[in-house]
Order: sequence, then C-alpha cells, then structure tokens
Amino acid sequence: MNNSRIAFIGAGNMANSLIRGLIAKGVPGPQIAACDLDVVKLEQLQTECGIRTGTMAEVAAEADVVLLAVKPQGMAGVCKALRPSLKQGVLIISIAAGIPLRSLEAWLGSERAIVRCMPNTPALVLEGATGLFANANTTAAQSALAEAILSAVGTSAWLASEDAINAVTALSGSGPAYFFLLMEAMEQAGVAMGLAPALARQLTLQTALGAAKLAAGSDVAPDELRRRVTSPGGTTEAAIRSFEGADFRAVVEQALFAAQKRSVELTG
Ligand SMILES: NC(=O)c1ccc[n+]([C@@H]2O[C@H](COP(=O)([O-])OP(=O)(O)OC[C@H]3O[C@@H](n4cnc5c(N)ncnc54)[C@H](OP(=O)(O)O)[C@@H]3O)[C@@H](O)[C@H]2O)c1
Repeated sequence: MNNSRIAFIGAGNMANSLIRGLIAKGVPGPQIAACDLDVVKLEQLQTECGIRTGTMAEVAAEADVVLLAVKPQGMAGVCKALRPSLKQGVLIISIAAGIPLRSLEAWLGSERAIVRCMPNTPALVLEGATGLFANANTTAAQSALAEAILSAVGTSAWLASEDAINAVTALSGSGPAYFFLLMEAMEQAGVAMGLAPALARQLTLQTALGAAKLAAGSDVAPDELRRRVTSPGGTTEAAIRSFEGADFRAVVEQALFAAQKRSVELTG
C-alpha cells in the first residue's frame, strides 16, 4: 500500500473493521484519516489506532484514496459535498450496497476512478469476503491498491461485470445470515434431543468454526469432505438423505436467487 493516504468518509462498523485491518497489516496510523458526524467514534479511532481525523473536506483534500463508508441513503449528499475537495487522480472506493457506478460517476464526476465493492460483516473479525468491480477510469495500480485495502479484512476477488455484484450480495454479502440460520436450527434440534441449551450452542458454534476451517484449509472441495465423513449406513448418511429428501439444494438456490432479485430491485 506504499505511502498512499486513505481517507474514510464515515467511521461506522465497516470503516472501523477496515481501519483496524489496515493497521493490523502494518499501515501506519497517520497514513489513514477519517471523518464522521459522530465525534466520539472518531476520537476512539484516533486514540486506539493513531489515525488522523478531520472534516470531510480536510481528510479528502489530501487523500490518494477516498473510501465511502456511509449508509446508501446518505451517499448522494456525501458525494456531492465531497466533489469539490477531491484531488485529481484520486481513487474512490464505495462499499455502499445498491449504489451503481453510474450514480457515483454522476455525483462525483464521470472522469473519476471508482471501484465499487461488496464486503460482508465477517470483515469485523478480519474474515470478510469482498467482490470488487472497477470503472474504466481506474488504472492497474489503483485496482491493486483497492484490492490490497479490502484484502486487509479477508479475501477479495475481481468481478467480470458490475451486475455480478448482485450475485455476490446474494452469496457472500447476505451469506453470513444463512449460516447463522443453520446454526440456530441445529442448536434448536440439539435442545429438542435433550441437550442443555448452552451445550447445544457450544457444540454448534465449534462445529461451524471447525467445518469452515477444515474446508478453507483443505485442497479438496466441500462435496468430497462431506463424502469423507459420510460412512455408508451411518448417522451422517441418515441426516444427508433427510436433507436431500427435503430438496435442500433447491431451497438454498431459491433463497439466493431471491436475494439477488432483491439486490437488483434495490439498485434500481
Ligand atoms: N455492515 C455490513 O454488513 C455491510 C456489508 C456490505 C456493505 N456495507 C455498506 O457499508 C456502508 C457502511 O455501513 P456500516 O454498517 O458501516 O454503517 P454505519 O455503522 O452506520 O456507519 C456509517 C457512518 O457514517 C456516518 N455518516 C453519515 N453521514 C455522514 C457524513 N455526511 N459525513 C461523515 N460521516 C457520515 C454515520 O454517522 P451517524 O451514525 O451519526 O449517522 C456512521 O457513523 C453502507 O453503505 C453499507 O451498505 C455494509
């Protein structure tokens, strides 16, 4: 990330995780600046991370990268207010859900280099997953910079088209909630079978963590890992048969398509 100065507009949940991720990756605090309407949030970040703070105009004026981290409904106003303060050649990164590049270009200038991305909440524990898409004004060096910033809080990947952001939103953006739902259901079933609620939760959470670590660290795909723990005539096979009998895969596919459709509708 060499000496690029990064300004965060909005210092809420996502900005906090990104700033902490960048600091953990060795970016010096003074290279990062943030502004927010909430002075308490800013003071906390300044004290804990050693970043600089200021008004929107102050932090933007000296930034090589401006990362837009306000809620989608605030984006139009923020972009219009920001425009006069931006340096020439600045890279803009937007993490706002449902705000297309064409809107960002209309508010910030059609000549701007803009990367739109969709991170997810595990970024808060540096285990995020982000899809990125850059507009035609973005240079290779700026793309590399955007990727390095988002990779500070997990994994990131470039998308072939801006539309793919809707699929990423459905898969990894909303995805943590699907795993939470499965955890809820497993915990409930454990209790129904007579386990104490605390024990059912403990075993569920550790199983989710263990399975994710095993899959992420393995050189074989999840279907093979599943086969390896499914002995013929055994308990796992009984459960998998039950899932397949209820058309589990179709239920999941239908849910993700519903999320993708909603993402398209929200983007307008
Ligand atoms: N959280 C997620 O799972 C997730 C995932 C993917 C993408 N995103 C995107 O990330 C963005 C930020 O989400 P978040 O969860 O971090 O929201 P958040 O916690 O509400 O953070 C946004 C911050 O921006 C501040 N703000 C609002 N208007 C401002 C302005 N004019 N100037 C400076 N600061 C301003 C807000 O202050 P006040 O609170 O005082 O208004 C708040 O502290 C959203 O666009 C969202 O779509 C979030």
